[in-house]
Amino acid sequence: MAIHIPRGTQDILPGVVEQWQYVEQKMRELCKRYNYSEIRTPIFEQTELFQRGVGETTDIVQKEMYTFEDRGGRSMTLRPEGTAPTVRSYVEHKMYSNPNQPTKLFYIGPMFRYERPQAGRYRQFVQFGVEALGSNDPAIDAEVIALALDVYRELGLKQLKLVINSLGDIESRKEHREALIAHFKPRIGEFCSDCQNRLEKNPMRILDCKKDRDHELMHTAPPIIDYLNEESRNFFEKVKTYLTEMGIEYEVDPRLVRGLDYYNHTAFEIMSNAEGFGAITTLMGGGRYNGLVEEIGGPPTPGIGFALSIERLLLALGAEGITLPVENKLDCYIVALGERAKDKAASLLYELRKAGFSADKDYLDRKLKAQFKAADRLNVKYVAVLGEDELEKNVINVKNMETGNQEEVRIDFLIEYLLERK
Ligand code: HAM
Repeated sequence: MAIHIPRGTQDILPGVVEQWQYVEQKMRELCKRYNYSEIRTPIFEQTELFQRGVGETTDIVQKEMYTFEDRGGRSMTLRPEGTAPTVRSYVEHKMYSNPNQPTKLFYIGPMFRYERPQAGRYRQFVQFGVEALGSNDPAIDAEVIALALDVYRELGLKQLKLVINSLGDIESRKEHREALIAHFKPRIGEFCSDCQNRLEKNPMRILDCKKDRDHELMHTAPPIIDYLNEESRNFFEKVKTYLTEMGIEYEVDPRLVRGLDYYNHTAFEIMSNAEGFGAITTLMGGGRYNGLVEEIGGPPTPGIGFALSIERLLLALGAEGITLPVENKLDCYIVALGERAKDKAASLLYELRKAGFSADKDYLDRKLKAQFKAADRLNVKYVAVLGEDELEKNVINVKNMETGNQEEVRIDFLIEYLLERK
């Protein structure tokens, strides 16, 4: 029996991987512009990090983690997201004492969630995320949102919708919590067992339930935005003002709660409006998490960030009919005919590569025509033909495949010839 790829995972093959490289490069470039530095953390962490960080009552922790015991009997988890690991690293390396503040970080890497696979939802997916730690300035909320939007826009996406909300500070949340309990308690029996468990522990999670999404009480639940205290309201107003001044359009969605526990104040998502995008339209999610650093054992430190998956980004590009300008050209292909020419081609190829050219040759003893076909398939700029006659004369026949122009060049002059035409 053949062995198959695990459900909900993908092989990214040559031909497609170039798109990944292109978008990843765009992300790195943008992070440089916004002054975010890359961080790479392990793919697995102690399970407790996510229990404490993401939250015990979330779907991620309750149902979706790849948790295993290592050979030393410790509980480890494949990271389901990048914020908790980034914060763990921030605390562990005392980045808060670095004079350069805020600490602005980004990551690109695989995340793992045991979810029901469907279009745009995988069990292994690659997140690009940024985290800005150490600033409580609402201008950085706007910066992080602008960076997320720029990723999509610079790749050509247009049909985007930004939704924002405020989840308030701890004080506002307490009042809202009481209101939610009062709202759901009398009829909690009509909800799923998860929601019943969440009622006292974390009633806000009920609003995020996928099963009971259509229950009438969901639509009439008191929105957090009505419970914001003055400070939280002012903070949210500032964020909105910055966005408006930057010319960024947004919609306030008072029902946006996000699926992770660490959020407070600003929460946001970007959706695709493209027709035929599919059921899952959320491309990106993020928000402020001012209590998380403390929760992970660091000093009280504000933080904000977002993450998006490259899988959903590529789906959105497809839905808007955008093809990325990925060029996959080879500079030179050597066509060699005859034993002596073949031998010479091997060392000549090596010289070309050392000089910085992307180059290749035939390795299957193909006939002239088949070698040209191979070169064509590789999308080469120059084909250099070396046969017995050329060897005798110490020349090589260089054909520019774009213009059809053909020239005889001295073999030891080939590299200079190509360099002049680069
Ligand atoms: P999240 O909303 O759980 O937030 O995920 C963020 C993004 O990751 C989603 O909008 C989506 O693009 C992608 N994503 C999530 N699950 C899947 C999946 N199963 N398949 C494909 N893509 C997926 C977080 O992870 C937070 N750590 C974001 C954040 C960073 N908040 C603050 N800083």
